[in-house]
Amino acid sequence: MASDLYTGSLLKTLVASKLSGRILELGTGSGLATSWITDGMDKDSKLVTVDNNALLMDVAKQNLPDARIQFVCADGYEWLLKYNGEPFDLIFADAMPGKYDLFEETIALLKVGGFYIIDDMLPQNNWPEGHAAKAKAFIEALENRKDIMLTKLNWSTGIIIAVKIAVD
Ligand SMILES: C[S@@+](CC[C@H](N)C(=O)[O-])C[C@H]1O[C@@H](n2cnc3c(N)ncnc32)[C@H](O)[C@@H]1O
Repeated sequence: MASDLYTGSLLKTLVASKLSGRILELGTGSGLATSWITDGMDKDSKLVTVDNNALLMDVAKQNLPDARIQFVCADGYEWLLKYNGEPFDLIFADAMPGKYDLFEETIALLKVGGFYIIDDMLPQNNWPEGHAAKAKAFIEALENRKDIMLTKLNWSTGIIIAVKIAVD
């Protein structure tokens, strides 16, 4: 499911705060949020975007011919466990891996001061049975962490903006 325009606009704005930023999107889909993110990036910023669906990623690739974007067609679980490159300034986690799964591995890839963004945190019509409880538990887990500061927005599909902070 493509992110809505509010999410896109917010991503673009936050990305614009990161000069020469390194951005990670987990869940490219057909590239809607990718296009907003790219629009907020300066010329020296780079985006890595990961999806396991080659058909969707091809749509994104065709519509976004931009040398600043690295399209990675891979399983997000495997990619997160294997990645050993530079950390990121902003992560938009829009797939199960990076959000409900492998969160520790994902937040480890974020720089202190970096943004971790998720949407679809308010009840959605397409949520399968049991997902509401999963979302509630995930939000509680985020709220209890000492290494992030977060704001929950009762806006759009329910966006959470978290910033990684240093812990002693
Ligand atoms: C919510 S959609 C992403 C929407 C996209 N960010 C947008 O704004 O248009 C979730 C995406 O995660 C991808 N996905 C699901 N499981 C995955 C996995 N294990 N590894 C990588 N991508 C996965 C799906 O193919 C789908 O494109």
